[in-house]
Amino acid sequence: MADSKIRNEIHVFINGVEHRIGGEKAFLPLAQYLRTHSLPGTKVVCAEGDCGACTVLASKLKQTSAAAVEWTSFQTINSCIAPMYLFDMGSLVTVEGLSEQEELNEVQDQMRAFHGGQCGYCTPGMVCALSSLAESSHCSGKNISEKKARNHLTGNLCRCTGYEPILQAATHLDLSKWKPLKDKYLTASQAQGFAVRLNDSLMIEAGSRRFSAPASFTVAVDQKNQSPETRLVAGATDLGVLHNKGKVFLDNAMSLHKIADTEKIDIRADGVWVGARVTLTQLENFVANTLPELSRLLRIFASPQIKNQGTLVGNVMNGSPIGDSIPALLALEARVHLQSVTGLREVPLSQFYKAYKVFDVKPNEIATGVLIPVLGTEWKSRFFKVSLRKDLDISAVTFAAALKLDGTRISEARFAMGGVGPTVVRLPELEKAAQGQKFSEALFADLGKQVRSLIKPISDLRASHEYRLKVAENLFKKCHLELEQEIPCP
Ligand SMILES: Cc1cc2nc3c(=O)[nH]c(=O)nc-3n(C[C@H](O)[C@H](O)[C@H](O)COP(=O)(O)OP(=O)(O)OC[C@H]3O[C@@H](n4cnc5c(N)ncnc54)[C@H](O)[C@@H]3O)c2cc1C
Ligand code: FES
Ligand code: FES
Repeated sequence: MADSKIRNEIHVFINGVEHRIGGEKAFLPLAQYLRTHSLPGTKVVCAEGDCGACTVLASKLKQTSAAAVEWTSFQTINSCIAPMYLFDMGSLVTVEGLSEQEELNEVQDQMRAFHGGQCGYCTPGMVCALSSLAESSHCSGKNISEKKARNHLTGNLCRCTGYEPILQAATHLDLSKWKPLKDKYLTASQAQGFAVRLNDSLMIEAGSRRFSAPASFTVAVDQKNQSPETRLVAGATDLGVLHNKGKVFLDNAMSLHKIADTEKIDIRADGVWVGARVTLTQLENFVANTLPELSRLLRIFASPQIKNQGTLVGNVMNGSPIGDSIPALLALEARVHLQSVTGLREVPLSQFYKAYKVFDVKPNEIATGVLIPVLGTEWKSRFFKVSLRKDLDISAVTFAAALKLDGTRISEARFAMGGVGPTVVRLPELEKAAQGQKFSEALFADLGKQVRSLIKPISDLRASHEYRLKVAENLFKKCHLELEQEIPCP
């Protein structure tokens, strides 16, 4: 590998062609860059990450050892909210890159055969999403069931065709006819070409705009110290939406994606370490066995496109009172690591959220990751999200419970809720009330009654104050009902 250099342009393959992008263009949303550079197949409808019309496939080159690099497998992302500068050393495939010499690929062919499109506005996004499903199913040798197709398409809306023909196209894919995209677009020679530039840092300026991606934490904290107003960008699934709505201007931004350590997710003596750039999809898969309840919760977090791009640290640092991971992280007693020029601080999340969007973070600090303690076998947990629809929706109320049991007696209880006040809250009064008690229906009914006087939910578009109170009460009953199956009471 070559020594790290500073580049003022990003290098990225788009449908196998290398693009070098600097200046203003590096700040464009990816979809806008594509559409203004002869690739108008990618559509923009909502520009908020909600509809999937802008779906493209993305891979990136990763260092796997001191001398080896590897492409990650293609995953879908929403190109409308992702700034171009995040894709340095990446390989992107748009709908134009799917067909071969005017010949439709297997997904396009089945979509045609089953009449999977009418106005066609959602179709490029649907085809890209289904192509990523075909690619991963081809690699794993697994068939595509209707359930799998439905789950994979939660981030793609169609307003006129109806989903039945699209699902039929998905389940009729003949994977023996699938020509893997990785063979065409993720080749060893493309990797070699990029490998010598992989560790370069980025500093792109355009007028008053500045984007940096340092190659080490030392440089990152130094830059943040010199310029505390610099905004950290992770996957930009929150920031990209705010930017498109004109609420946040990412004129001075920094990403940690050139620091390999930020991609780490591993099990340590004190829990699961989730680096600042670990995506929600990676987390969902990684904790399937160690923290299965967290993994289960993440299944209904946003859509595949958002989870492939968005990070856990982004969710924590965005600190929304309805951030879905936060109640679970509070119940697991997770800690965020904050680094500055003066050193590292480990802050328990229970002390991190001070008021609505007011956090215990200093202007010169950056988050390097989150440590999530793993519960021992004596613990039982339940994490719930209640929203108007199951998939791709913002929560009305979220709930997390972790109970340490000594037989049927609760020796320690942790409860946290979101959507019930200006921050996600822990409920120490209820934790105390449950401690030492027998796990029983009566106890949880009582905790549900008590919670009503401890929370202060507002009424908004998603739910009324009274509805949230009722849901909060009922979630305690649901928690008992579900755990009853696991805690046999004598
Ligand atoms: C369509 C759609 C659906 C969504 N669904 C859900 C959902 O179901 N549940 C949910 O909770 N959220 C949801 N979100 C919100 C969002 O996807 C999550 O909050 C996600 O975890 C944000 O991660 P990110 O990496 O994209 O963060 P970014 O947008 O990059 O950043 C978010 C915040 O974190 C800060 N930040 C990022 N990295 C660091 C760092 N290293 N140090 C300090 N600060 C940092 C940024 O400055 C910013 O303030 C959804 C968003 C969209 C667009
Ligand atoms: S345009 Fe709707 S998700 Fe991007
Ligand atoms: S074909 Fe018209 S929105 Fe899907």
